[in-house]
Amino acid sequence: MTIKQFTIAIDGPAAAGKGTLSRKIAETYGFHHLDTGLTYRATAKALLDAGLTLDDEAVAEKIAREVELAGLDRDILSKHEVGEAASKIAIMPSVRRALVEAQRRFSEKTPGTVLDGRDIGTVVCPAAPVKLYVTASPEVRAKRRYDEIKGKGGIADFDAIFDDVKRRDERDMGRADSPLKPAEDAHLLDTSEMSIEAAFQAAKSIIDAALSRN
Ligand code: DC
Repeated sequence: MTIKQFTIAIDGPAAAGKGTLSRKIAETYGFHHLDTGLTYRATAKALLDAGLTLDDEAVAEKIAREVELAGLDRDILSKHEVGEAASKIAIMPSVRRALVEAQRRFSEKTPGTVLDGRDIGTVVCPAAPVKLYVTASPEVRAKRRYDEIKGKGGIADFDAIFDDVKRRDERDMGRADSPLKPAEDAHLLDTSEMSIEAAFQAAKSIIDAALSRN
């Protein structure tokens, strides 16, 4: 039996738990994983590090085309300023085109891939046989981020994080090019009251059913 290449698209707002879920899914099925937010973050960080402005689309596109997908590291790219800058350059159509091309090439790897982001099911891989839209209320997402920072011994201000989550949602959902929204055929997974394990089990039954049809 030949197994067709298989892609799982996972979208949702910031801090919804997509990352943890995507990594667990990729590990379970032996698929390659790409956190596409890191491609926007790497572009933004390269601009910031070079002291370049964030509002020159041609310069940002050039940098986006130089981003190497191998070796993107969330620890290096996790800073708040980098996330903010990433969400600003993510409104630029030519930056998106450059990164989407690289993401699509990645998505074709065998035996399968898991891509997580904001527009995977709608734009990057619209033909993916499994699309999940993972979300949680802004309060729950802010609390998770707060706990994560506290857990690492950092200083966190819940109100500031909550405002940040809402501002990021507005920018990601409100932009003209590829706004964050569920694909029509996406399975919605609201994790507000779900553990990681419960979310994973829900995702797994959807994926197993699709794999058996593939
Ligand atoms: O998921 P993240 O916080 O690392 O993403 C950082 C920013 O990148 C996010 O605010 C919007 C943008 N992004 C995007 O526009 N499309 C994607 N597929 C992934 C991220």
